[in-house]
Amino acid sequence: MIRNDCSEIVKKEFDFGWKAGRSGHVANLLALEHQKGDILDVGCGTCQLYNFLIQREWTGQYTGIDGQRYEDYPYPPGIKLLVNDATKVTFPKTDTVVLYWVLEHVKDPCALLSKSIESCQENVLLCVPKRNEALWELGVVEYHQLDKTHQHCGFAKEEVSTIVRSSGGKIQSYKELTEKTATLGVSLWNSEMAKRVVFFLSRIFSSKIFYENIWCEVIKE
Ligand SMILES: C[S@@+](CC[C@H](N)C(=O)[O-])C[C@H]1O[C@@H](n2cnc3c(N)ncnc32)[C@H](O)[C@@H]1O
Repeated sequence: MIRNDCSEIVKKEFDFGWKAGRSGHVANLLALEHQKGDILDVGCGTCQLYNFLIQREWTGQYTGIDGQRYEDYPYPPGIKLLVNDATKVTFPKTDTVVLYWVLEHVKDPCALLSKSIESCQENVLLCVPKRNEALWELGVVEYHQLDKTHQHCGFAKEEVSTIVRSSGGKIQSYKELTEKTATLGVSLWNSEMAKRVVFFLSRIFSSKIFYENIWCEVIKE
């Protein structure tokens, strides 16, 4: 029998780990440090940011917006979650808007950032995957490139600056997060001894450093 439709055979859905594994991310710590009161978390996923904040006695009002609710994942009790397309819905006024790993999902990141800047009283905190083309030349491609739901292959520093400027904002604070060095992939070595040697050598000789993410605090220009 010849099958014409192979759509059911090849795996299309992948779990990239962020739905359950991001609460300890340094970007959440930066959100705690830089938030100015109430938070609107746009593209909130499973609201792990809220979990992180309340565990640290944060007492502001949290509202999450996401295009979908993930039924197989637990959400914090009593969460205020709006299931809607963030590019279409009107944002409630808030002190801080969080845009963590969502700008790469929308066609027009300037429009979403501009809307976020308009609806915040204080600041916007954003985090996006960084595009490291210099890594590609060495045969290493960042894993976020595999996510077919992304509209963009990550962002360069200059692109983030231009997006912020074009959206009517100004970068107040800029950081690159999550270092990658020559030890990337060391767990592929079968021998424990080989791994130790690689780590030892990396301590003696400096290596090129790459970063996975760009984080910014943005205020109105
Ligand atoms: C990579 S996840 C990031 C989740 C969360 N911010 C975090 O840090 O773990 C991106 C989320 O943005 C949501 N998203 C993408 N485009 C959206 C849109 N136009 N409106 C609302 N949510 C959107 C997706 O459904 C997904 O849950």
